[in-house]
Amino acid sequence: MRLRNLKNTKTILEESCFLVKNPEDYKGNTDALFSKKQPLHIEIGMGKGDFIIQMAKKHPDINYIGIEKFDKVLARALIKIPSSLSNLKIYRYDAVNISSLFEHEVERIYLNFSDPWPKKRQEKRRLTSENFLKEYDFVFQKTKEIELKTDNVAFFLYSLETLSGHGYRLSKISLDYHKDLTIDTAVSEYEKKFLQKQVPICHVSAQK
Ligand SMILES: C[S@@+](CC[C@H](N)C(=O)[O-])C[C@H]1O[C@@H](n2cnc3c(N)ncnc32)[C@H](O)[C@@H]1O
Repeated sequence: MRLRNLKNTKTILEESCFLVKNPEDYKGNTDALFSKKQPLHIEIGMGKGDFIIQMAKKHPDINYIGIEKFDKVLARALIKIPSSLSNLKIYRYDAVNISSLFEHEVERIYLNFSDPWPKKRQEKRRLTSENFLKEYDFVFQKTKEIELKTDNVAFFLYSLETLSGHGYRLSKISLDYHKDLTIDTAVSEYEKKFLQKQVPICHVSAQK
C-alpha cells in the first residue's frame, strides 16, 4: 500500500499504539512497556520493519524494540504491525544516543544492512564503530550479542575488526550465509531486494 494513499506520516505516528512517544522515560524500566517480562532484543535502523515484525511473530517469548530515525520509513513499518502483537514496540530515535534509552537491559542487538558510510571521515556514523560499541556496552545486560547481516563486504570486514577489537567472540561468520549457514532469522526489505538480485549476504554473530 502506498503511503501517499494513506493518512499522512505525522498522523500515523501520532495514532500508533506501537510507537513509544517518550522512550527516554522507560530507561531502566523497559519491561513496563510489555505485558510480559522476558528477554529484550532490539533492531537498530529497522527501516520499514519487515525483519522485526516477523521476529516478534515467530518469538512471542521475546520482547522486541525496533529503532529508526526517519519518520517516513517508520510510518511504513507502523501500518504493517498486526494489532494483536503484544511483544513489539517501536522507538523513533537516533541510536547515536542509545544509552539514553536503555541501561543494562538489552540481550541482543540486530544490525541489518546498516548504512556502510564508506568514507573515512564518516566512520563515526557506522553502527559498528568504536563509539557505538561503547554505547552498546551500557545498554547491554550481562549477555551481550550482536547479530549482523550486510551485503557490503568492506563494512562487514570493518565490523569484524571493530567487534573483535572490542572483546567480542565471533561465530557464524560467512560471506554468503544463505549458502553456508542455517540460522534463526528473518528477511528484511533490503535483504529481499539483494536476494532477488542474487547478491551474497554476509553474516556474523558476536558475543561477549
Ligand atoms: C539501509 S537501511 C536498512 C533498513 C532495514 N534494516 C533493512 O535491512 O531493510 C538503514 C536504516 O537504518 C536507519 N539508521 C541509520 N542510522 C541510524 C541511527 N543512528 N539511528 C536510527 N536509525 C538509523 C536509516 O534511517 C535506514 O532506515
